[in-house]
Amino acid sequence: MASVAEFKKSFLAEIDKIESREELEKLRVKYLGREKGLVTAVLRSLGGMPIEKRKEIGPQAQGLKQEIEKLLSNRKEILETKETMASVDLTAPGRKPARGHLHPLTLVEDEIRRIFMAMNFSVVEGPEVESDYYNFDALNILPDHPARDAWDTIWLRQNQIKNQKSKIKNGGRLLLRTHTSPVQIRYMEEHKPPFQIIVPGRVFRYEATDASHEVNFYQFEGLMVGKNVTFANFKFVIEEFFKRFFSAKGGSASGGKRPQIEFRYRPSYFPFTEPSVEVDIKLGGKWLEVMGAGMVNPRVFEYAHYNPRDFQGFAFGMGVDRLAMIKYKIPDIRMFYSGDLRFIKQF
Ligand code: DAH
Repeated sequence: MASVAEFKKSFLAEIDKIESREELEKLRVKYLGREKGLVTAVLRSLGGMPIEKRKEIGPQAQGLKQEIEKLLSNRKEILETKETMASVDLTAPGRKPARGHLHPLTLVEDEIRRIFMAMNFSVVEGPEVESDYYNFDALNILPDHPARDAWDTIWLRQNQIKNQKSKIKNGGRLLLRTHTSPVQIRYMEEHKPPFQIIVPGRVFRYEATDASHEVNFYQFEGLMVGKNVTFANFKFVIEEFFKRFFSAKGGSASGGKRPQIEFRYRPSYFPFTEPSVEVDIKLGGKWLEVMGAGMVNPRVFEYAHYNPRDFQGFAFGMGVDRLAMIKYKIPDIRMFYSGDLRFIKQF
């Protein structure tokens, strides 16, 4: 019988040439097969050997068996990897990794900013915690004015106010701003006309929620003031804005198919504009109310320390959520704030 060492030598020579799993199995049977395996035979013959010989050969054969098992399993792994690699199409397109992305309201707000910036407007922001003065008084909405009812207000408690009072000019009671209009006053206090600004921002209302009302939502305000700013200028700016916003390419790109939009200006009332209008647009056969606007009330200029004889201007305010709902056909404002990924992932 050949020696264990010879079996080892021949096994090592053979395994190197193995290229398939079938051949590998044959090799295993040849050496370790239960019936006729060469190493198995040696192990089986141990019982009939004199003790001295058994002590010598036994561990050698057992060691070789283990070594062979290990080499067979290594080789098997290599062959399997080769097989899967052969079946992988390396030219196939990759899977798209999941990435975070912007919220639909952010996308719409960015679009609005881009369109107005392209029309030479500056973007200005103001605080969400606001004083009674800026949110109401300076916009000609005095404490006893019934128009205050139009803005259901979230007032801040007295002790919250104390901590912040020093930071907020013109003191008074604090509230969560009910609209972006107070930034009109804040901006005019620090700048001289002519100018044109938009003010995107978050606003708050003390209201029951439903498909079209939320306790917080987003608005943007517009204000253009100069020596000869007229309502005709307002019409041009706002019609241009809507045509770009609802254009096929979605906006600031000057190309893209411009949509057919009809405009309607309905007389309305806001304390801070005179005259005031509601703007409706007809899109896809339906009239939709999209914004409040008007010529800046001379009273408001007085609050901002302008001489109303020197300047005139227009102002407007609209809901970002509402525009997003129209643009993307979203039926319920609450979806924006639900955090529901099935909704968010569509944008
Ligand atoms: N601030 C108004 C609101 O929240 C919207 C508005 C209407 C703003 C007319 C304006 C304006 O600047 O001129 O309901």
